[in-house]
Amino acid sequence: MTVFVIGASRGIGLELVQQYLDAGDRVIATARDEAGLTRLRDMGAQALKLDVTNPASISGLSWQLDGEKLDVAYYVAGVFSEDDAKSPPTVQAFDSMMHTNVLGAMQALPQVAPWVEEAQGQFVFLTSDFAQIGGVESSRGWVYHVSKAALNMAVVAAQPDYPNAQFLLIHPGWVRTDMGTSAAPLLPEESVSAIRATVAARKTNATGFACSDVPYLRWDGTPFSSW
Ligand SMILES: NC(=O)c1ccc[n+]([C@@H]2O[C@H](COP(=O)([O-])OP(=O)(O)OC[C@H]3O[C@@H](n4cnc5c(N)ncnc54)[C@H](OP(=O)(O)O)[C@@H]3O)[C@@H](O)[C@H]2O)c1
Repeated sequence: MTVFVIGASRGIGLELVQQYLDAGDRVIATARDEAGLTRLRDMGAQALKLDVTNPASISGLSWQLDGEKLDVAYYVAGVFSEDDAKSPPTVQAFDSMMHTNVLGAMQALPQVAPWVEEAQGQFVFLTSDFAQIGGVESSRGWVYHVSKAALNMAVVAAQPDYPNAQFLLIHPGWVRTDMGTSAAPLLPEESVSAIRATVAARKTNATGFACSDVPYLRWDGTPFSSW
């Protein structure tokens, strides 16, 4: 099986690379600096340089993947910032978050999804419980809330344009990474092994996926009760 991971220099993305390699799969993964690329190569992955906020960088993705059949692709790249609705976000803070979490995914999707369709594979987007409008309890991470809700919509709306690829939205849980902090209860190993099992369990031979087929799931496969 060939697996592609966007945003794999550390955290959940790096752990996805490790676990798929350990399982004997071929892994192509991206990082945006030399240290990250070297780490991926040393692990045995094929490394591609990619900054999802750089249009020139991301526009080369499709030809870099030319001829591939991607059984599973992941869009993992993401940023978080502590803010709330007591003060207005700056344009710079808003743009920076939305570029990584939303525009980057929207620019990657049309370049990656055709190669996922070649394998009738799965395209997983790492979202968050912060995206769930029906479950929100505070404005902490206000722009992040907005970015992940927008990501969910971008992915659901795009599904019918790629009917031979199955899109999934997965919240990894609160995970002990740079983003999740050391207070998080879940280890990356635990989250990622559950995500891999959830993705494998959702694999189907069906095609013709529609918007309503895109699931919004927790790492362990349990669906959110509302968007
Ligand atoms: N950890 C949690 O508790 C949690 C909870 C819910 C959702 N999530 C989501 O899960 C995903 C992974 O989170 P994580 O905890 O692994 O975060 P992390 O440890 O902070 O890692 C973030 C990853 O995204 C990459 N990235 C950031 N900006 C990028 C850009 N412009 N271009 C390319 N790559 C970029 C980083 O690369 P660099 O090393 O180059 O910065 C890094 O590999 C994110 O989408 C996040 O929103 C995480």
